[in-house]
Amino acid sequence: MIDRLIEFLQESPVNFLAVQAVARRLEAAGYQSLDVTSPFPSLRAGDKYYVTKNDSSLYAFHLGEHPMSETGFRLICAHCDSPTFRIKPHAEMTGEGGIVRLNTEVYGGPIMSTWFDRPLSLAGRVIVRGEDALHPRTLLLHIRRPLLVIANLAIHFNRQVNDGVKLSKQKDMLPLLGIVSSQLEEGNLLMNLTTSELNVEARDILDFDLYLYDVAPATTVGAHGEFISAGRLDDLSMVHAGLEALLSTADHVPPTTHVLAIFDNEETGSQTKQGAGSPFLAQTLERLILSQGGTREGFFRAIEQSFMISADNAHAWHPNYSEKYDPTNHPVLGGGPVIKFNAAQKYASDAVSAAVFAEICREANVPCQHFVNHSDVAGGSTLGNILASSLPLRGVDMGNPILGMHSVRETGSTLDHQYCIQAFTQFFRN
Ligand code: CO
Repeated sequence: MIDRLIEFLQESPVNFLAVQAVARRLEAAGYQSLDVTSPFPSLRAGDKYYVTKNDSSLYAFHLGEHPMSETGFRLICAHCDSPTFRIKPHAEMTGEGGIVRLNTEVYGGPIMSTWFDRPLSLAGRVIVRGEDALHPRTLLLHIRRPLLVIANLAIHFNRQVNDGVKLSKQKDMLPLLGIVSSQLEEGNLLMNLTTSELNVEARDILDFDLYLYDVAPATTVGAHGEFISAGRLDDLSMVHAGLEALLSTADHVPPTTHVLAIFDNEETGSQTKQGAGSPFLAQTLERLILSQGGTREGFFRAIEQSFMISADNAHAWHPNYSEKYDPTNHPVLGGGPVIKFNAAQKYASDAVSAAVFAEICREANVPCQHFVNHSDVAGGSTLGNILASSLPLRGVDMGNPILGMHSVRETGSTLDHQYCIQAFTQFFRN
């Protein structure tokens, strides 16, 4: 299981490639891609389809034995974006000695200092000229070799470095890309790399969405290999757990329709067409019901019968900082999936949905834990409550406990990953 997670993380340096990695696995299990620009085919129990939006979000459906309007959906939601640095347009900055830096902007909320002094590379998508202006082509780019580094300032220039340093996103975080070797290369280094990787002409490249990622592979750590150290555990570990659970029932017709929804842009607030704030999932679910011969009324009935697990990582208790945690609710690594509560409703969980999820864990023989913020700490939010504005579903916010959330490498527990897949698989038995 952990080897499969590590392999998935390696294939998924950014959102676009994570979506591609999920789609590949779905297709291998008999799922077909549905074209959202055409009428949906008439659907039957056991059908397996997926749709994507913007190449960066994906929604998979396994149709159950009972009509959706009668029993609703069982949904697992997660997100495929993670904090990183985005390459700006006209990014190359050539300085003294021909040394080239790339101009970047921050995506989401990374712990910036963790990005220093480690081999980085580029991944994302490149847009090339298509048949006409409205239909350009998209090529995914994944440069696997180490290509860039964000170098620290030597301690001799800043003796206070270990007392905490304020970092400027514009000044301190620009990665080095290389040293130009000829006049011809100046201003073209990034373009040259892109064209040779993708085997396209520079004049056909129209634009790009490219991001930095840490090339050091995901790995297990610890005396017994009990930890996993990897970039993007938040939230690709939950994407992977949801996918494993969905595929565990791929060979038979489930009683109820299963949905796996992988959203983009959770880290920037979800308010995009491919984020959890978009009506796209609600529209697609309604289209599914209509394609099964149902009605809008049937769609509303389905919503009332459904249950959603919004899966996004939680904070594990950190032994070095116990004062930051709630005195009675501080989940530990290896203690199982975590149900997240917040009185201000940043999380979708309530007593009813938490009880449902705890029962699912009990049925799956999986321990489960509870997280609530220390009352003086603001804490984060996730996608469960944002999705509720377009799909008012009963649902729980949960996730596996991790340390160092939004560090370039986060630390989780291998056992928790197994627990989570067991719990999700049990959920999909319904
Ligand atoms: Co997250």
